[in-house]
Amino acid sequence: MRKAVCPGSFDPVTFGHLDIVSRAASLFDEVTVAVLINKRKASLFTVDERIEMLKEATADHENVVVDAFHGLLVDFCREKQISAIVKGLRAVSDFDYELQMAQMNNRLTGVETLFVSTNPLYSYLSSSLVKDVATYGGDVTGLVPDAVLEQMNVKLAERGQ
Ligand code: PNS
Repeated sequence: MRKAVCPGSFDPVTFGHLDIVSRAASLFDEVTVAVLINKRKASLFTVDERIEMLKEATADHENVVVDAFHGLLVDFCREKQISAIVKGLRAVSDFDYELQMAQMNNRLTGVETLFVSTNPLYSYLSSSLVKDVATYGGDVTGLVPDAVLEQMNVKLAERGQ
């Protein structure tokens, strides 16, 4: 079985992420969307909330599973017998760091990284920008699933933003 992982923070998941996940799902038998548990990075959503939103957003794909990991991505891949990492590249600015990580991960365990060119519709899109715009009352409809939009508005209201 050909297995791949789409790793990330997904705080929150955007249509840019979902585009990459669905394209990976058409290339591999099973795709794991893996949420990084990073206690050092402040996040809007808890890992459990992010997992729930991802499960709902990927429910139409029978071969997509959602999981979480901490530590090294290569260790997660080894444990789950995943041989490929799939990442989206939005622009040249993504490339340097992504290449560095791909080469390091390959050196560590031999895992391969495949880059998918982001749909131009989403080339400017990131979770951070979505949160920033939403925080100051901007409209991010169409950039994240409606369920995510609703939950983000609840979170921001709870925070008084
Ligand atoms: O959505 P993000 O925050 O850009 O995702 C970054 C992520 C999770 C893909 C990357 O930080 C990662 O793989 N972290 C796990 C720790 C690790 O393996 N670090 C070494 C990379 S060479």
